[in-house]
Formats: sequence, C-alpha cells, structure tokens
Amino acid sequence: MKTNLSFSTPAEAETECLVTVVLDRAEKDKTEAFVATNDKAVQDTAAEVIASGEATGKNFETTLLHNPARLKAKRLLLVGGGKAKQFSAVELRKLAGAAVRSLKPKGVRSFAFLAPESVPADEAVKAIIEGAFVGNFDPDSYKSDRKDQKIEAITVVTRGEQPALHKAMDEALILGESQNFTRQLVNEPGNRMTPTILADHARKMSQEVGLKCEVYGAEKLKELKMGAFWGVAQGSDEPPALIVMRYEPAGAPEKPVLGLVGKGVTFDTGGISIKAADGMEKMKYDMAGGATMIGAMRAIALLKPKVKVICIVCATENMPSGKAQKPGDIQTAMSGKTIEIINTDAEGRLVLADGLCYARQLGCTHLIDAATLTGAVVVALGYTNAGIFANDDVMYDRFTRALAKAGEKMWRLPLDDEYKEQIRSNIADIMNTGGRYGGAVTAAMFLKEFAEDTPWLHLDIAGTAWMEDSKPWIAKGPSGIAVRSLVEFAKSFGA
Ligand code: BES
Ligand code: MN
Ligand code: ZN
Repeated sequence: MKTNLSFSTPAEAETECLVTVVLDRAEKDKTEAFVATNDKAVQDTAAEVIASGEATGKNFETTLLHNPARLKAKRLLLVGGGKAKQFSAVELRKLAGAAVRSLKPKGVRSFAFLAPESVPADEAVKAIIEGAFVGNFDPDSYKSDRKDQKIEAITVVTRGEQPALHKAMDEALILGESQNFTRQLVNEPGNRMTPTILADHARKMSQEVGLKCEVYGAEKLKELKMGAFWGVAQGSDEPPALIVMRYEPAGAPEKPVLGLVGKGVTFDTGGISIKAADGMEKMKYDMAGGATMIGAMRAIALLKPKVKVICIVCATENMPSGKAQKPGDIQTAMSGKTIEIINTDAEGRLVLADGLCYARQLGCTHLIDAATLTGAVVVALGYTNAGIFANDDVMYDRFTRALAKAGEKMWRLPLDDEYKEQIRSNIADIMNTGGRYGGAVTAAMFLKEFAEDTPWLHLDIAGTAWMEDSKPWIAKGPSGIAVRSLVEFAKSFGA
C-alpha cells in the first residue's frame, strides 16, 4: 500500500473516498454527534445525515455518502469513533483499519483519511497509517477464487509541520509492513512453514534490509549443548533451525545489547503427551513468537535506531515419534541445569530456555522473549491482553511506554518466588510443568531460571497472536501482536 500526505483543504481532496471521523460529545444518554474536523465543507456535507440520526458516532458505525456536492471527493465515509472524551490515537488506529475493511469490498482502491484535530498531527498520521495496514491484511491466500481487494494507496489529509509528519508516515509504513510480514509467516500452515522454511524467510528478508543472519542446524545445537531445545527437536524428521539475526549499526554504543528471543514451534502436536485432535490445526501458529521477532527485526533494520539488537529464533516441530523425548526423561539445558520432562507438550519453555541462555552468551544485556507459551494465559486474560512478566521494574516501565505508543495491550502477571515450589523436581533441578494452577506463571518462572540476572521480559501471546473472530479493524487470523511495541522499545534506546 502506498502512503501519501496531503496538506490541502479537505474539500479539495480529489479521491475515490474521503473518510472522516464522527464523534459523540453526549452528556448522559443524549447523543450529540459531530464530525471531528473544523472543515466547514465536510461539516456541512455531514450535517443532514447526522441530524437524521443515521450517523451517531457509535464506534465503528459507517455511513457512506455518494457525490457530496461541496467536496471534490467521489464519496464521503463517516466512521464512528465513540465518545469524544475518550478518543485518542489508539481508537484512531482502529478506525483507519475499519475504514479500510469497509471500503475494500466496495471496490474502492484508494482513499483519503482526514486526520481529526483532537489528536496531535504526528500521532494521528502514524496511527492512521499503521491502522490502515492492519486492516488491509487478509489471510485468504490459499483460496482459488480469491479476489484481491487490497487498498492500494492511502492519503492522510492533515495540517502541520511537513518534515515531522513525513517522518511519522515513513515510520508507520515500515511498522505496518513489518507487522503484516509477521502475520504472513504466522498464517502459513505447518507443511508450508517448517523450521527450514521459516529460516529461509528470515534469511531472505535479512538480505533485503541489510541484517546479518546465520542459520544453524542440529549439529550446532549439539555443539552448544542445547539439550532442552534438542529434546524437543529430536522427535521430528524436520531438522530444527537456530536462527540468529544481528543488527549492529555503526555508532551504536557497546551497551545495551537487546536480545529478542522467539519461540518458533512450527507445529505443536504436543509430542508424546499428544494434544486432543479438536482444534489441533491451530497449533500451526505456535511459531508466532519467532515470527514476531523476525518482523520486529525487519522494522528495526529499516528504522535504524542506534542500539544493538540480536534476535534468536528457536525453530522446531514438536512431534511424537520413535525418537521423541518421553515424560520422565531428563535433559541438560545449555546453562547446565537439568530438567525433568513431565509433559512433552510444555515444549516452548524448553526451546526458549536454551534461546535465552544463548542470547546471554552472545552478550545481550536485556532480554525479551515472545511465545505462544500457555493455554493458561488465555484462561487468565482471554483474547484481549497478552501476558507480560518481568524480573526488572525499570525495563518493564520502559516497555509500558512502548506499548502505549504502539496502542497494544499487555497485562503484568507475577513472578513471586513462592511459585518456584511448583516446578521443583525430586530428581533434577527443575520440572517443565508446574501442575494445574497458575500455569502461565509457572511457565514464566521456568524461563526466569534461564534469564538469570539479566533484565528480562516475557510476553505470553498465546491468546492474542491469533484473532478468533474478525473485528471491524482486523481480519480473523494472525494479529501481529507485539511487533510494533518491540520496535518502539528498541527505538526508545536511541531513535
Ligand atoms: N503451544 C502451546 C500453548 C498454546 C495454547 C498456544 C493455546 C496457543 C493456544 C504450548 O506449547 C502448550 O502446549 N502448553 C501447555 C502446557 C502444559 C502442558 C503445562 C498448555 O498450555 O496446555
Ligand atoms: Mn505444547
Ligand atoms: Zn507450543
């Protein structure tokens, strides 16, 4: 999708469709809708349909007018943005996605979005473009009768300082494309997204954006003594891939070195502790954490913050076979810790244990992992908030600022020492499951053992990496959660 800015008056915008936000400034139960612009021509054009009560400002309500007399645009689309008092860039991002999704099936291929004046212009430009990219993605690539209905170009009609707004636009484009790159990877089924194929995508993208990328196989896992990662990989006929990507810009300080570690389980059958058949097809998205990190690296390489970043993706299938690890087996992780395997379906923490350890060995001073780690985080937080865990409050605070910028939601869960009891083993240093209760926490406690004293965040995206239903602003399927926040976080160390 091409992106443009226009600084002309809205009435002059020659476009297939001009989109404007309608807000509700109601007190109590009386609604009073108004268009979120000071432009007289747009106000006048919308006046009748608002007065009739058809356009109310209700969230995601869309009203389309053809041939608006006072505008050069062929159509005017009103999108409801809810209560004026609560309206911010977060809502605006979604509205841009909703505008895209409402115009696509109508045959509109390009449109202009009028930035509402109540949001600072640079934030508005960024939110509108990011949201439009989110809305423009559809996961139907394997339908033979697929109609490509993508929006080809968006123009943001805005006012203000041109260089700053162009910078905001360029950043948003990179973020939007990178998030969709992640979503494309996550959308692929297990037979078309093996560890090897995932690594090929990482390598190809790295070449395009100028990242160093190395891909290692089973030999390297053994050489590094990654017994936890290999314990999972040994059961599959598909070779594992240890993907290492490096962003080392000239002029970046020696420290910090940010380490992004992703779970890249390209299909999770559960292994010998095999999952029930019902819904197992969804386990193709168990590499979402890895794809998230790869997408974030793409954006980082293009946005060029002055900070070193190393990305490690531990890619493997989790399969039952004659070679597969068994419950009761004991594996020695790269760090030297011994792990009693209670349930082979708790494989994500095993591959991440060695990924985190390797990141520390490579000199990372700050670690973040992303993983579709537990069903328990879905029980705890549903599909709205990802789970976030931290062993360092300063790093957590910095990340919450990145989340706010990106408009993403995560909720912090605890890591008290008491939980460690649940993963104590009789025979080894640690068990890979912690019983029925607090499953998201005990999984995180397991990882914490491998982050050791390095500041670390763990993002459990099991409930948020895949949209169970479509929403007005986003299709059902892979969401690309966390990509934008991770990039904002990296940028916070030196834009
Ligand atoms: N990949 C799953 C977690 C998952 C669940 C992701 C639902 C996406 C949606 C993970 O490997 C897993 O199987 N976890 C087990 C852990 C249990 C055996 C301790 C789980 O959550 O049931
Ligand atoms: Mn599993
Ligand atoms: Zn898994």
